[in-house]
Amino acid sequence: MLIFRTKAELNKFLTQHRGTNSTLGFVPTMGALHEGHLSLLNQSMANNSVTVISIFVNPTQFNNSEDLLHYPRTLDDDVKKIKTISDTIIVYAPTVEDIYEGNTTSQHYNFDGLEHQMEGKFRLGHFDGVGTVVQRLFDIVQPDTAYFGEKDFQQLQIIKKLVEKEKLSVKIIGCSIHREANGLAMSSRNLRLTDQQRKEAALVFKTLQTAKQLFGTKSAKEVSEFVTQTFQNHAVFELEYFEIADESTLKSCIRKNKNKKYRAFIAVFVNKIRLIDTISLN
Ligand code: PAJ
Repeated sequence: MLIFRTKAELNKFLTQHRGTNSTLGFVPTMGALHEGHLSLLNQSMANNSVTVISIFVNPTQFNNSEDLLHYPRTLDDDVKKIKTISDTIIVYAPTVEDIYEGNTTSQHYNFDGLEHQMEGKFRLGHFDGVGTVVQRLFDIVQPDTAYFGEKDFQQLQIIKKLVEKEKLSVKIIGCSIHREANGLAMSSRNLRLTDQQRKEAALVFKTLQTAKQLFGTKSAKEVSEFVTQTFQNHAVFELEYFEIADESTLKSCIRKNKNKKYRAFIAVFVNKIRLIDTISLN
């Protein structure tokens, strides 16, 4: 399997091996791969002649230095997992220097307000970091199509906005959320949970499912109160936010409108480990 550590080597290879009729699918990740990531790779493999995955823990999107420090880095294991799908997948695992060239800072973006909701309120500068690295990665890899998970639904909407505003010629595909058997959304951060915490964390998705049911008859405010109360009753959790928002603007739902699509979003800490999840309410 080919693993490139620099954009120069990757570019040289892609220039030689991208046929005129070939399509390139791209899956950007921060590594510590799990089945959620692999499902994105499978989609790319099924629809493109060449698939590139990037594995890069992007420092500019972490607003918490502890989180950056503890983010799992497991390149050897990641490569083994990628091989189980196909050893024709091309891995780009650059250094910080290769991406940032000595200036590890974010560009500032205007994503028409999407960046100020939810994650944007609690992780200041996060989406500038995501936008910066994804734009650079697109520039390096030049994909026809790129695959992102609905697990990070706000990120997915922001990437679509980035493509629209920066007039990038890449198609963005959103992919459904992969879950553990108990419903917990797969995440690289789950590696930091103890077995007991992993079991207890099933409450996150269970609560989202109940919230979805309740939203059929109750207001967004009433559903939010139910969720807040649920986590207050379970001491291992600290709820950061629960939001019912319009899927396209990500603005909070104040009064339900039949013509709009809504989604519930949650961020919750289990012993300092931050978990996020989301569910469509329509
Ligand atoms: P990372 O958290 O590694 O996720 C890489 C991609 O996998 C994202 O598009 C994410 O939404 C998707 N993903 C994660 N968990 C998933 C799950 N359980 N089911 C389906 N898809 C899932 O998101 C990032 O990295 C970074 O912000 C990145 C876009 C790479 C920029 O640095």
